[in-house]
Parts: sequence; C-alpha cells; structure tokens
Amino acid sequence: MRIGVLTGGGDAPGLNAAIRAIYYQAKEYGWKTIGIYHGWKGLMPGGRSKEISEEKAETILGIGGTFLGSSRTNPYKTPEGSKQILEMIKKHKLDALIVIGGDDTLGVAGKLFEDFKIPIVGVPKTIDQDIFGTEYTIGFDTAVNVAAEVIDRLHTTAQSHGNSFIIEIMGRHAGWLTLRAGIAGGAHIVLIPEKPYDIKKVCETVSKRKKAGKYTLIAVSEGVKPPKKLHEKKDDFGNVGLTDRGLAYTFKEVIDAECKIEARIMVFGHMLRGGTPTAYDRVMASRLGSSAVDFLKQKKFGMMTSVQGGEIKPFPMKKVIGKFKKVSDKEYKLLQSLFEGDVK
Ligand code: F6P
Repeated sequence: MRIGVLTGGGDAPGLNAAIRAIYYQAKEYGWKTIGIYHGWKGLMPGGRSKEISEEKAETILGIGGTFLGSSRTNPYKTPEGSKQILEMIKKHKLDALIVIGGDDTLGVAGKLFEDFKIPIVGVPKTIDQDIFGTEYTIGFDTAVNVAAEVIDRLHTTAQSHGNSFIIEIMGRHAGWLTLRAGIAGGAHIVLIPEKPYDIKKVCETVSKRKKAGKYTLIAVSEGVKPPKKLHEKKDDFGNVGLTDRGLAYTFKEVIDAECKIEARIMVFGHMLRGGTPTAYDRVMASRLGSSAVDFLKQKKFGMMTSVQGGEIKPFPMKKVIGKFKKVSDKEYKLLQSLFEGDVK
C-alpha cells in the first residue's frame, strides 16, 4: 500500500507529530507513506509529493508547523478540480489518503469520499478547536498555553503602569481559545463570538475598575462582531479573513474615548500557531495519526479520527461540513463568575 498524507488549512503545533505517527504505524503494516506538499494544491496539476523517509520521520516530533507545508486551496472551487485530484491520486499510485485539516480540508475529504469513494480518512486539527464532532483538535493545547503565558506577562506590566490591555486572540467561529486562555491567564473581561456583548457595559466595567485603581485585561476573540465596521476579504472557502482587520484597534478607539484611558494593544495573530507543540498536543497528535492508519486498515473510509469521551472514534467527515462546535451557554455561565460583570 502507498498512502498519501497531506496537511491543509492553517498550520498548528503537533502536525509533524501526527505525520510521524502515520509514518511509523504505516511501517508496521509494511506500507509506504507519501508526503503531499501544500495541502490539496499538492494533488492538483503541478503539485509535489515525495515518499517520507525514516530519517525525516525521526526528526520532526517536536517541531511546530508542518514540514509538508499547507494551503487553503479548495479543489471544489472549479468544476474540474475534484476530477484533477482523482487523476493525481492515480498518477502518484496512491491507494489511500490521510488528510489532516480543519473543517474546510476535512469537508473536501468528505465530499471526495461521497463523490468518488476514494479510500480517505481525516485527522482533525485547528488551534480554534471548533471542528464539529470532536472534543479535541491538534494544536489547541499549545495555543492556549502560549496565550495564557503571555497574558500572565501582561499582568505584571499592566499592574506596574496601571495600563489596561485589549488582547486579540484567534478563533474564527468559536471562542474556545479566548475563553480558555482568558481563564488560565486571568483576564478580567472575555468576549467571544458565541456571546453577544454590549460595548457600553464593557466600558462601564473598565471605568469602574479604573476608579478603584485597577487595570483591566480584556481578552477579545477575533470572531466577535466589531464595535465598528471593518474591511473584510475572503479566502478560497469563503471564510472572512479576520486576522489582519484591526479589530483590537476599533475596541481601543471606543474604550479609550468612553473610559478616558489609553489602552494598550496585544494582537497575538499567528504567534499562537507557531512554535513547539506541548507534550499533550504531541501525544494526542500521535494517537490520532496512528489511529488514522488503523482506520484505513479497518476500511473506515470517509471518517475522521474524532475524540469522544476521551476515546478515539470514527466520525463521518461529511457531517463536519458547515457546522462548528461552539462554546455552550452552560460552559460560559459556569465560568462567568471568574470575569468582571456580565457584558451583555
Ligand atoms: O483556523 C485557524 C486560524 O488560525 C483562525 O484562528 C484564523 O482566523 C485563521 O486561521 C487565519 O488564517 P490565515 O493564516 O489564512 O490568515
């Protein structure tokens, strides 16, 4: 057997650990692993692939990013795209595919399985942890840890100068990263897309704390509705690019004016996706990678290696399309006492 492996969408710490586990588990079965470069682009005309060597697999465990590279290429964007993928699979003599990605990449994998019955298995990754059908996604733990550590650091500088901070954290559709980093880092206000906020209430809280001689750390998910309209552009999958739209600056404008302060800004951006994966992400990525190979062996095609109740179970990739795992009201309410006041 020759199995192809690709990583699509935004990179996440732990991807290399998953690729390594795929390589070793495939080796157990006497299979060869072919690395496909730059996501779905690698299976389009002009795309690149290369067999993964033991020398390579041995050296990648603790390295962030993905040595295969990634892209947000959508083969379904053109009428001929999906058929080109099929032709490339034949050309590269691939017997099966393992696709590591977020909702868009796994959605494409799900459609390819439905349309052509390609032997394909998915592995969920995204620092946003918002893929429907799985408790865990590769990279989330590292991103939370990095964000929490930086929020910790902001406390000491904020306290020394009495400065308040607006901290913008990635998370396109769901607020998991902002909520968990906000809890772990002790932010005073946490704004997430699932929970509408009233900017006046936010300003009231900041002003109240200021009167009491306190600084305020406001963790804002990039996916919240901006207090002012912002310029937005879309990717191949129709996702609005949130990262560079300057959300934190609009919050600063409004809060500065209302609260008579000069808030400071911290925009994490892609820093949260970079660097060394935590031990937890390495272990989980290894479990998911090995399981993906086992899923292929057991012919669990069209499935992703989801985590449910701590166990790795098959979940149909077609069910991932167009849905997101959001922070529940129950979870938010339980933790609300940790934050300053109700912002609604
Ligand atoms: O989906 C992961 C993610 O990091 C989101 O949190 C963020 O909105 C998006 O990717 C950024 O994408 P890009 O790297 O294409 O700007």
